[in-house]
Amino acid sequence: MRILVTGGCGFIGSNFVRLILSERPDWEVVNLDKLTYAGRLENLQDMADNPRYRFIHGDICDPQAVAEAMRGCQFAVNFAAETHVDRSLLGASHFIDTDVKGVLVLLEEARRVGLARFIQISTDEVYGSIEQGSFTEESVLNPRNPYAASKAGGDRMAYAYWATYGVPVIITRASNNYGPYQYPEKLIPLFVTNALRDEPLPLYGDGRNVRDWLFVEDHCRALLFLLEHGQPGEVYNIAGGNERENIEVTRAVLRLLGKPESLIRFVADRPGHDRRYSLDASKLHRLGWQPQVPFEVGLERTVRWYVDNRWWWEPIKDHDGEFRRYYELQYGARLA
Ligand code: NAD
Ligand code: TYD
Repeated sequence: MRILVTGGCGFIGSNFVRLILSERPDWEVVNLDKLTYAGRLENLQDMADNPRYRFIHGDICDPQAVAEAMRGCQFAVNFAAETHVDRSLLGASHFIDTDVKGVLVLLEEARRVGLARFIQISTDEVYGSIEQGSFTEESVLNPRNPYAASKAGGDRMAYAYWATYGVPVIITRASNNYGPYQYPEKLIPLFVTNALRDEPLPLYGDGRNVRDWLFVEDHCRALLFLLEHGQPGEVYNIAGGNERENIEVTRAVLRLLGKPESLIRFVADRPGHDRRYSLDASKLHRLGWQPQVPFEVGLERTVRWYVDNRWWWEPIKDHDGEFRRYYELQYGARLA
């Protein structure tokens, strides 16, 4: 069995590669990654010498790179994407390139080689915001920011390749992930690493937006389960079942680190900020999968990982000019 993982040097992809190599001893993994700012070879440095692992530096928008990477594979899981909502507000054309056109290139090759399974990693953000109740897989898509809109394009393109050509596609829509190796631009790793340095935590708006937190390891196990038990042509919501207001998450991080709440700064809101995401994941539960890691346990493990792995995030924050430029652009005026 050989599986192509695209975007395997990112947060969820690297956790997934590590899970596959340890839980499926007869599988080989090919990782195709462009190494954008979010893709880091360090994320898999412990796997680099594994004979069942092969890294290819390339872009999912490049048909030749995709053909080389998919050769001999039976399965593919597409994690490769531009993923940060706030960056999509500064410019969305990269998002269209990777999250829509890149998906098309992968699907076309999957069709050509007759892949046995193709998982398109979509997101709960394609449904938009919901004040009450939860979205099922049948809910109308209503993406409300450029990231979410581009992911909805990739999600529906994947479905189109199933409906039109019978490419055995499975589409997953997961809630917000957290855990080790998450780039420190997203809420939890940004706040943990800022707090460790006694720097302000910029909380948008009133801090009462709700996200449903899914521990990355649970997400990866759900994907492996769906590779082996999911039905082609189907969409599956993957939820953590841990809805929390951002202010609660922020306070929990500060408590775990023994840092004062005076580090919290309420700052200008994100434009079009979705109020609440909520998924009904009963379809996946009926199939036989449930998350295992309670939020309090996962958060403690995550915070501990950032405390213990400064080697991983300090160079990003201190020496990566790209991160510093982004931080200044996103937060400079807000925190001034
Ligand atoms: P990430 O930003 O940490 O990593 C993205 C990876 O994709 C990086 O390694 C990057 O180098 C690679 N990449 C980007 N453009 C590429 C291209 N054109 N060709 C090849 N590689 C490319 O992302 P993540 O948080 O790990 O998210 C992975 C997937 O999960 C994405 O599709 C995202 O939309 C989806 N998702 C994420 C979350 C979340 O909370 N993080 C929730 C639901 C769904
Ligand atoms: P984020 O981690 O960017 O994920 P997403 O936008 O995909 O849900 O943000 C999670 C929540 O945290 C979201 O409601 C926005 C909020 N947030 C802040 O309040 N401040 C920040 O600096 C960031 C990055 C996010």
